[in-house]
Amino acid sequence: MKFFIDTADLAQIREAQDMGVLDGVTTNPSLMAKVGISGEAAVLKHYVDICNIVTGDVSAEVISTDFDGIVKEGERLAALHKQIVVKVPMIKDGVKALKYFSSKGIRTNCTLVFSAGQALLAAKAGATYVSPFIGRLDDVSTDGLALIEEIRLIYDNYGFTTQILAASIRHPMHIIDCAKIGADVATCPLSAITALLRHPLTDNGLKQFLEDAKKFQ
Ligand code: G3P
Repeated sequence: MKFFIDTADLAQIREAQDMGVLDGVTTNPSLMAKVGISGEAAVLKHYVDICNIVTGDVSAEVISTDFDGIVKEGERLAALHKQIVVKVPMIKDGVKALKYFSSKGIRTNCTLVFSAGQALLAAKAGATYVSPFIGRLDDVSTDGLALIEEIRLIYDNYGFTTQILAASIRHPMHIIDCAKIGADVATCPLSAITALLRHPLTDNGLKQFLEDAKKFQ
């Protein structure tokens, strides 16, 4: 399973990259706003800065909602850097734009996916990635992981190559469960990735090893 980090924070992206386990980055307008990026030039520069830190795919989201606007914005984003993946919302004009980008060889991430039907449409339109938001489904008492299972089944039934990018991950168990189900990618906050490291038996065991090592040094 690939690990993406879900942030626009350059320090956090560098930290995850330094761990050696990072395969890419996802951003969205909320995450960009959170790090204080504003104005078109600053936003575009920030995407390039992210691409220069990591070696994998970097999702950059369009804010247009009509076909012509999505295409214009997406082509501009894709031209910024070869690692850019154009993130497109799951709306009617978005599906049409996914098909267009696919025909032009521009890679895409279909975002704001909350149902198997939406994921099926994204795959049929040729999306490179589909982003089901599992945490936001859990927030409204709906099983986010069950959606990942449904999409996995549907994509495997028909051999769709669209990669399932589990998004809106909130904690390490989401990552582990997504890995069991067979999500292709998990995009996570840094806190969820680093939480995978921790186990009290590891800490206790290391403490004991280091104490015993003093006896023969
Ligand atoms: O990748 C989508 C993700 O950023 C949404 O996460 O935590 O805002 O639901 P969250």
